[in-house]
Amino acid sequence: MIGKDILFFSSVNSTNDYIKEHLDELEDGTIVTAKRQIAGKGRRGKQWISNEGNLFFSFLLDKNYESNFSYVMRASTVLVKALGEFGLDAKIKYPNDIMVRGRKIAGILIETKENKVIIGVGVNVQEEQFETLEAKATSIKMETGYLFDPLDILYAFVKACNETVKDNEEQLYQKYISNSYVIGKQIKFQGHKATITKITRKGLLQISFNDTFRLVSMDEITLEELYYDK
Ligand code: BTN
Repeated sequence: MIGKDILFFSSVNSTNDYIKEHLDELEDGTIVTAKRQIAGKGRRGKQWISNEGNLFFSFLLDKNYESNFSYVMRASTVLVKALGEFGLDAKIKYPNDIMVRGRKIAGILIETKENKVIIGVGVNVQEEQFETLEAKATSIKMETGYLFDPLDILYAFVKACNETVKDNEEQLYQKYISNSYVIGKQIKFQGHKATITKITRKGLLQISFNDTFRLVSMDEITLEELYYDK
């Protein structure tokens, strides 16, 4: 259960960092959200531009599941479900980028500290200019034409998360797979033309080329070329 306690801020450096710095004071399931972040963080050490009008939040969970991939599946399938409430047909670009029409609309950053997992979510809600990311990014405003309050998306996420909290690993995996944006797609892998054939239950990507299979982890591959696929 998440969202019993929600802390609202005008501005923080990063909602993930806020949770990490106040870990002992916050209960399991607490959400921290801010109108803007000064030093929003993306995956792979990237910056997450965090202008007002978009959604930034993090929540913490006790580390109950064994693998990090369980959290990846949980957060991304819940986000797909929540965005569906706003009429968006969102898909998951492995491991946990959320895409609409081949462009990224939301990202998830999962970190751990002590026996806790911190899940940070950024959703492009009202943003319409992405500068260098122009062709790779989109927002709810750009996709629907409507200006939503970022907190409405947060509340849809909380509802979807609490509705699916009892899903077991297999149900979760089936939802993750059925919403995958990458399975069946062609990529270049170490100079080979390859096809993504599967995502395993342990969260590895199965790639096939020249009649062979390779399993790669989320740290080994970026799938950059799969943006703005029509
Ligand atoms: C990514 O796709 O690279 C992950 C982006 C995650 C951004 C969110 S915004 C709320 C939380 N706080 C952060 O500093 N990052 C995450």
